Amino acid sequence: MTEALILSGKTVSHEVYNTLQSQIDSLKSSGCTPGLAVVLVGDDPASNVYVNSKARRFNKLGLFSETIRLPEDIGEDELLSKIQELNNDDRFHGILVQMPLPKHLNEAVIIEAVNPLKDVDGFHPENLGRLTAGRPRFVPCTPKGIMRILKHYNIDPSGKHVVVLGRSNIVGRPISILMSLKQTFSNATTTICHSGTADIPYHTLQADILIAAIGVPNFVTSSHIKEGAVIIDVGINRVEDDSEKGYRLVGDVYFDSVNEKVSAITPVPGGVGPMTIAMLVENTVEAAERLVSG
Ligand code: GUN
Repeated sequence: MTEALILSGKTVSHEVYNTLQSQIDSLKSSGCTPGLAVVLVGDDPASNVYVNSKARRFNKLGLFSETIRLPEDIGEDELLSKIQELNNDDRFHGILVQMPLPKHLNEAVIIEAVNPLKDVDGFHPENLGRLTAGRPRFVPCTPKGIMRILKHYNIDPSGKHVVVLGRSNIVGRPISILMSLKQTFSNATTTICHSGTADIPYHTLQADILIAAIGVPNFVTSSHIKEGAVIIDVGINRVEDDSEKGYRLVGDVYFDSVNEKVSAITPVPGGVGPMTIAMLVENTVEAAERLVSG
């Protein structure tokens, strides 16, 4: 196989920002600055990094964002009333509750408390239901970003077999729904593998497009994939090393193992990660436009 095509989320995300700038300018000139509230419960280091990079991006684009940092041991009622406050605050067109939440909080209850019209994560059952019915409002950011990368590189999933590793509500489940929708640049045959799957390589070896979203460092190796497959690596795993930071980021895919066998692959970092933030910006701008036009 010749060198794999590197699917750069970094490049595609900058294209998204360029496109969004005129929509942002036009909203701002009509007196509306798109605003996002990010709720962070506790101080998980990885979540902290994500939340800070979201805030930096919003700032850079001249958008409004506020990070609401709440203590690890906050009660459910207190968190729910904070969300209610944000639902009623017109400065915020989008609300994002960073996942995962501490174990004592019921994620489903918290997600349902967010006004579906401000649910820029697309996690609310109303938005997930709309996506499933093929009438999406907000599409979850990481799956939306994956579709956008494929579109940019003209990799059409239609008629292909897409195998998804992982069934999370954030990535695995929604990307499998998106991929099988009857619309252009979807229309794929999909398989979801998860912890209950008896023989994972049996399925992944049939994938034309393999999406790895299980959060296990270097899980996918060349023995899992067929020659010429397209690989989307959603994993952002911290692996300890002796660098200054004390860790490095690796994907769910063992890049050096699969590199010579695949036709295209997203790197980690610089692949799916930057797209998640770009789609969050896009969803927030969309939320502002919808709330402004009524
Ligand atoms: N944790 C990991 N990815 C995400 C995401 O896209 N949104 C939220 N809210 N939490 C996450």
